[in-house]
Amino acid sequence: MPVYVLSKSQTFHLTDNSHFSYILKIAEDPAAGKTLHQIYWGAAVSDGCLDYLCDEYQMDLASFDAFTQVPPFAYPTSGRGDYRPAAIRAVGEDGNDCTLLTYQGYEVRAGKPVPAGLPHVYTEDDAEANTLIIRMKDEKTGLAVALCYTVHEKLHTLTQSVRLENNGTHTVTLYNPASASVSLRGGYDMLHLQGAWIKERSIERIQPMHGIREISSNRGASSHQHNPFVALLRADTTEFTGDCYGMALVYSGSHRMLVEQNAFGYTRFVGGVNECTWKLEPGDAFQTPEMMLVYSDAGLNGMSQLFHTMIRTRVCRGFWRDQPRPVLVNNWEATYFDFNTDKLLGIAQKAAQIGAELLVLDDGWFGKRNSDNCSLGDWVVNEEKLPGGIGLLAEKVNELGLKFGLWFEPEMISPDSGLYRAHPDWCLHVPDRPRSERRQQLILDMSRKDVQDYVIDAVSSVLDSANIEYVKWDMNRNFTEAGSAMLPADRQGELHHRYMLGLYRVLEEITSRFPEILFESCSGGGGRFDAGMLYYMPQTWTSDDSDAVERLSIQYGTSVAYPPAAMGAHVSAVPNHQVGRVTSLAFRGHVAMSGNFGYELDLTALSSEELDEMKEQILFIKKHRRLTQQGRFTRLASPFEGYITAWQFASVDQDELLVCMFRRYAKAGAENEFIRIRDVDVNAWYEDEDGKHYHGSALKQIGLLPHFPFGDASSRIVHLRKVKN
Ligand code: GLA
Repeated sequence: MPVYVLSKSQTFHLTDNSHFSYILKIAEDPAAGKTLHQIYWGAAVSDGCLDYLCDEYQMDLASFDAFTQVPPFAYPTSGRGDYRPAAIRAVGEDGNDCTLLTYQGYEVRAGKPVPAGLPHVYTEDDAEANTLIIRMKDEKTGLAVALCYTVHEKLHTLTQSVRLENNGTHTVTLYNPASASVSLRGGYDMLHLQGAWIKERSIERIQPMHGIREISSNRGASSHQHNPFVALLRADTTEFTGDCYGMALVYSGSHRMLVEQNAFGYTRFVGGVNECTWKLEPGDAFQTPEMMLVYSDAGLNGMSQLFHTMIRTRVCRGFWRDQPRPVLVNNWEATYFDFNTDKLLGIAQKAAQIGAELLVLDDGWFGKRNSDNCSLGDWVVNEEKLPGGIGLLAEKVNELGLKFGLWFEPEMISPDSGLYRAHPDWCLHVPDRPRSERRQQLILDMSRKDVQDYVIDAVSSVLDSANIEYVKWDMNRNFTEAGSAMLPADRQGELHHRYMLGLYRVLEEITSRFPEILFESCSGGGGRFDAGMLYYMPQTWTSDDSDAVERLSIQYGTSVAYPPAAMGAHVSAVPNHQVGRVTSLAFRGHVAMSGNFGYELDLTALSSEELDEMKEQILFIKKHRRLTQQGRFTRLASPFEGYITAWQFASVDQDELLVCMFRRYAKAGAENEFIRIRDVDVNAWYEDEDGKHYHGSALKQIGLLPHFPFGDASSRIVHLRKVKN
């Protein structure tokens, strides 16, 4: 049983009975009554230790005063002398944000309640999970708070979300109600994924400090800048050893994660929505997004592997979750806006010839769009470019033996569009202020039901009109003037979250209407690479930077929280369009093979030798994609630390391994650097594709010597198959 309720010690012990324990305790506050505290999270402990832990904490709780700031409130509030970040500020009728949540009761259920209208970690069977719901209440305002913790036993992880309900008689205004708050003893390094457009998710590890650190987005998207993910690590935690705590939101909008270490050696984490001021009328409820809470005692890599399995198997859904993802050819970097049917069919012919499976038509097929200055919102084919429309083009592509896919940017509206001329108030805007354009476009107000319905109808009617088997769903700018013509003045602060709720409704509707279409999300590359989008679309375009050398860091950084099966990775032309670098086709192929593979270059401009090499690459991918998409991924050498990068994929039974090794630049007289392999059977022999044998113990203890080809940007992939024990 993963939820133990221990009445003697007044504790709740959440555990998968193997990897982790998370312990909550009810304490008696002499002035306030019963309060709820989170007294432990870490490696699994037995119930037997709880009395000891409670004794230790009793001291802290009894001696609580405004100066020590020690009690690890499970859902800290403001105004009562806990000066660390609060999980919520709630302002009642009297205009004050002083809130006191007292314990009211609990409930344990098999399975998991679904947070309505929001993406989440799901279960396929009630036996997969157990949920503890703890109810608390602020007597004065009538604000009822239900903390919902689910133990996903087989995933060895925990999720948390919170439901806030106004059971009082007056409005309560909520400010950034958090999804989770966590307390840890000791100081921790903080690791997060920062970046910008074309340089997403660089790993940054920061020493502990006193004071508050904030990872956040106020952009209306989870952002290129700060991924909604934070890890806390002990100073001596490494890639493979030591305590590592990961927190990641299943959400795609503005978010906020705060970490504070205080002078008494306690670390608090609080995380959830950002830019959210929500008026809760009597009888109304607010559901927070869900936070995934992952603990590993096997370092950063151990944490990543837990996130990978959870996201790949219980966040990603639907037909394509476990299907091999098709090798695609996308025309964006091949043609940009300059294409017509003949050009596309020329590329498609070559794509079929090399064994690709899907042709994706990117931006520029609709309205009058021959550059990025118009037509977003007018989802009607441009017959001048594509006579006969999308239907005919898809048919011709299908005749070549390829699937056909299409790009949309449905959340956007160009000022120069029929849609804008008909509905100038459908975009986010603030009256009497300029409407700031980015890439010459505005954002549709997805909080409006009429706008949501328009998007559902416009996208669905294109998808109904042709045999479209893949959709790239883009979103190329962030919020400015985040106001809605439909919301009253006192609810404008709800816009950021209402936008997301509206978007999620649209995504749920469209992906359920077209369950067999493979959807890939995108936001100027990786500006919305988060578990929220992955719930609707099982893969994301990782970055608009397609240079293979730069991609090493981007894909490596992304893998800290997200599985390779979620990453789109394409081979593009040289000189590369973002950085001008020239690298070999082999190297570019090796980098892209670790994600959902594609080509994004003009196949009609390549030599027959290059096309032959691509044919070989595709054969290799088809042979190994089960392993790269569903195997266990381990990082072996970091591009953030040296000039060699390596990672591997292993089958769950350790029968098969794919070791991918990359060298950014050549060095004269370089040291022989063995790459130590993980996840091998140390009692077995393995054979590579040249018939060479390696003993598992040697692979683990000594490793593989990469034998990189001569020159910069070189790489080697070694496939190992277990031959005998
Ligand atoms: C974004 C995407 C690109 C491409 C363009 C089209 O930048 O990330 O891959 O689709 O839009 O305008």
